[in-house]
Amino acid sequence: MARRAKHSPEAAEAWAASLIGARGTVSALTEKTRGPVRFWLTSNGLPSAFVRGGDGFPGLTMATLCAAWNDTTNETLESLRRLASETASTTAAQDDTTTTTTTEQDDMALQESLAMTRGTRTTTTTTTTAPEAATQLATLIAQMAGGAIDENKVRAIVDEQAGASIAAASRHVLENVKTELTSALEKIATAQKIEIEVKDHTGTVRNVGRQHKTFPRLLKMAAARRNVWLRGPAGSGKTTAARMVAEALGLAFYFTGAIDTEYKLLGFTDAQGRIVKRQFREAWENGGVFLFDEVDASLPNAVLALNAALANAYCDFPDGCIPKHPDCIIIAAANTYGLGADATYVGRMRQDGAFLDRFVKLDWAYDEELERATCPNAAWCAHVQAIRANVTRQGLQVIVSPRASYDGAALLAHGLTWDETEEATLRGAMTTEQWRSVAIDASARKAA
Ligand SMILES: Nc1ncnc2c1ncn2[C@@H]1O[C@H](COP(=O)(O)OP(=O)(O)O)[C@@H](O)[C@H]1O
Ligand SMILES: [Mg+2]
Repeated sequence: MARRAKHSPEAAEAWAASLIGARGTVSALTEKTRGPVRFWLTSNGLPSAFVRGGDGFPGLTMATLCAAWNDTTNETLESLRRLASETASTTAAQDDTTTTTTTEQDDMALQESLAMTRGTRTTTTTTTTAPEAATQLATLIAQMAGGAIDENKVRAIVDEQAGASIAAASRHVLENVKTELTSALEKIATAQKIEIEVKDHTGTVRNVGRQHKTFPRLLKMAAARRNVWLRGPAGSGKTTAARMVAEALGLAFYFTGAIDTEYKLLGFTDAQGRIVKRQFREAWENGGVFLFDEVDASLPNAVLALNAALANAYCDFPDGCIPKHPDCIIIAAANTYGLGADATYVGRMRQDGAFLDRFVKLDWAYDEELERATCPNAAWCAHVQAIRANVTRQGLQVIVSPRASYDGAALLAHGLTWDETEEATLRGAMTTEQWRSVAIDASARKAA
């Protein structure tokens, strides 16, 4: 019985279905199409003689074979199993004679399928199908032996061997296609990986790893020592990108959020006469990347203090005018281009035109490939992206940012259920009505 274990019922069923049609759909069997069903039955553990006839068994009729194949509840199969086990018959001898040959055929099938998946085989040869071959061979041998050989038995052996070989070949082809696909996907993933290597002013080469698709452009703007206005939706990675520019260039990173007074940039002299310096001053005087984050939420009059500095490379601090360090890079990050609030970003203020004019602009959209590559839970990330696509399609003023992916992955990893995670990261950001229109039902979610 060693050979049967090598062909799972599932593989046999798939092979048979590919030749004669899926279970439940075959109206009748013929001499040519019953072979695969017989093979499927023996793969399910039914003795070969019981199925094909021989050793005193009449063999299963076309009608029974067809009924067993079409009965997807497997009740017929079970009845046949019971019937077979009630009779004390074995086909061990028949099985043993074919074991070695099958192994050799498996090897040949492996070589063939490897050649096919590697594309080295350019021509296909049309051969007789397994049941046809069995019939022809059985007829030939019967003729040669002048009727001394049991034709049914020969057909059964060849039938089974040919079937086994094809099933093995299919399995090997599938396995090899899978391997080739995996390695192709890995190659694509590597090619898409934006690994950034930069040489800083000291000649040191730094690798800052996987970054946003627009990061190389930002880096060039920074290298050109332009003031950059990064505009992008919440969670698109603007703050991170500015920090990574500093890392890539080997510079210190300084940061200020929205301001309501110029003192938060320029500093001041306290009651004891001491100069209080702000982050901007450090970058301006000593070099470094200064991120003016959420700049469009600042009071326009507060940022005006920067105008002269940005234009002239000199800045008036409480204790004097200081020239700009050559390695001071100023990046402003915002949800708008400073032209005022919109339906999503209602807290943004229209900034002075002269201030805006001092920046080169760079659009910082969501990078969904980066999100997929860096989110630790692929199914959750796919779910977030599907909901985001629905939001965009429907033109809703709702934010579904990559933060929903990262936060959700962390919550799931810490034991929150899918529903609780959804509530915390997606549903909470919209009205019940909006949620109803973008939610993905449970069955689609499982597929994600
Ligand atoms: N290159 C990146 N690799 C991995 N995660 C990133 C990357 N860029 C941003 N993120 C993550 O995305 C989220 C939003 O990024 P953030 O820079 O705060 O966006 P923004 O400033 O545009 O609102 C954060 O959780 C951050 O850690
Ligand atoms: Mg930010």
